[in-house]
Amino acid sequence: MRTRICDQFGIEFPIFAFSHCRDVVAAVSKAGGFGVLGALAFSAEQLELELKWIDEHVDGKPYGVDIVMPASSVTAGQDVTKEMLEKMIPDQHKKFVEEVLTRYEVPALPKEQPKPETLLGWTPSGGRSHVDVALRHPIKLIVNALGPPPKDVVDHVHKHGVKVAALVGRADQAKKQVEAGVDIIVAQGTEAGGHTGEIATMVLVPEVVDAVHPTPVLAAGGIACGRQAAAALALGADGVWTGSVWMAVKESDLSSVVVDKLLAAKSSDTVRSRSMTGKPARQLKTDWIKAWEGPDSPGTLQMPLQFMLVADALARIGAYAEKPESRARDLAGTAIGQVVGRMNTVRSTRDVIYDMVKEYIDVVERMKKGLDEAG
Ligand SMILES: Cc1cc2nc3c(=O)[nH]c(=O)nc-3n(C[C@H](O)[C@H](O)[C@H](O)COP(=O)(O)O)c2cc1C
Repeated sequence: MRTRICDQFGIEFPIFAFSHCRDVVAAVSKAGGFGVLGALAFSAEQLELELKWIDEHVDGKPYGVDIVMPASSVTAGQDVTKEMLEKMIPDQHKKFVEEVLTRYEVPALPKEQPKPETLLGWTPSGGRSHVDVALRHPIKLIVNALGPPPKDVVDHVHKHGVKVAALVGRADQAKKQVEAGVDIIVAQGTEAGGHTGEIATMVLVPEVVDAVHPTPVLAAGGIACGRQAAAALALGADGVWTGSVWMAVKESDLSSVVVDKLLAAKSSDTVRSRSMTGKPARQLKTDWIKAWEGPDSPGTLQMPLQFMLVADALARIGAYAEKPESRARDLAGTAIGQVVGRMNTVRSTRDVIYDMVKEYIDVVERMKKGLDEAG
């Protein structure tokens, strides 16, 4: 399982893994893949601590950082203060959130628990501060989601000898990214967990590969085993970019209630909903999502207002979901892709990588045998 991307990054397998959990990132890189830490949920100070930990535990293997700089949001690229944004959240929406939590008997956050960060890295300055922190570490790749990164950011990253990758859901977006100086395109199909477009991986990947040739492309969305990885490479990708599968590995820091939900979920149990961030993101179908689609829903707000509105509610749901008998359980969920239907056991990160490689080799040999037999 070798492609040009392996030589470019000095990795054994072209398997890229997105995770918010530093333990998973380090374990993937140590197993021969390439771990990428999702920075969005961290403050600049916390990101510094996470990356320091990875540096100390990754045995010198290459890794990357994923930031989010939305090309479109309610801020229209302007840096506005948190207070200005808070004033833009209608009372009707706050009332709706409180009504849902009351219906499910979810109390306020325990006093000792700190209030959650509501703005995340979604403002232009937030994303840039993540880039500055990341470049102080021996990272090999910075990845951006939700639109082309600003040109000066790309140039700044390149000056440090670090490559830039970006997620896309359409071929025309991929072309724009390459024009903006991006080195590697992640073609992410609608099956994927998190923010996602409408085109399926099977259709999207060859379109993107052809549109941006010879730029390397990683296939994403619905890839969690060796057969899916073989299909991705057959479609012309240089490697795979995975996310969902790492949510239920031994090293994952996800709550056990949500992990159990993932292990039980079928591939039809996810839905694209704006209720988390204001942009369509695939996630587990829960009563929380259903409430936002129900007749009483005031509708979702634009990014970043929607997450600012629901961050405290999500923290409350998380804080009480673990308690037996708590109705917060019915509301608890996570971003996750359709491949959740195949996530039925908790494995170690190393086993996920090795199982994927082994199945990849088996399938390629099987296809080669078919060719040889056909003469
Ligand atoms: C819980 C979760 C959170 C995600 N958050 C981000 C994010 O902050 N930035 C990003 O670029 N991609 C994010 N993604 C998308 C992944 O980078 C990746 O493209 C996707 O998971 C691949 O498809 P798969 O879920 O079918 O493996 C997230 C995915 C999941 C499952």
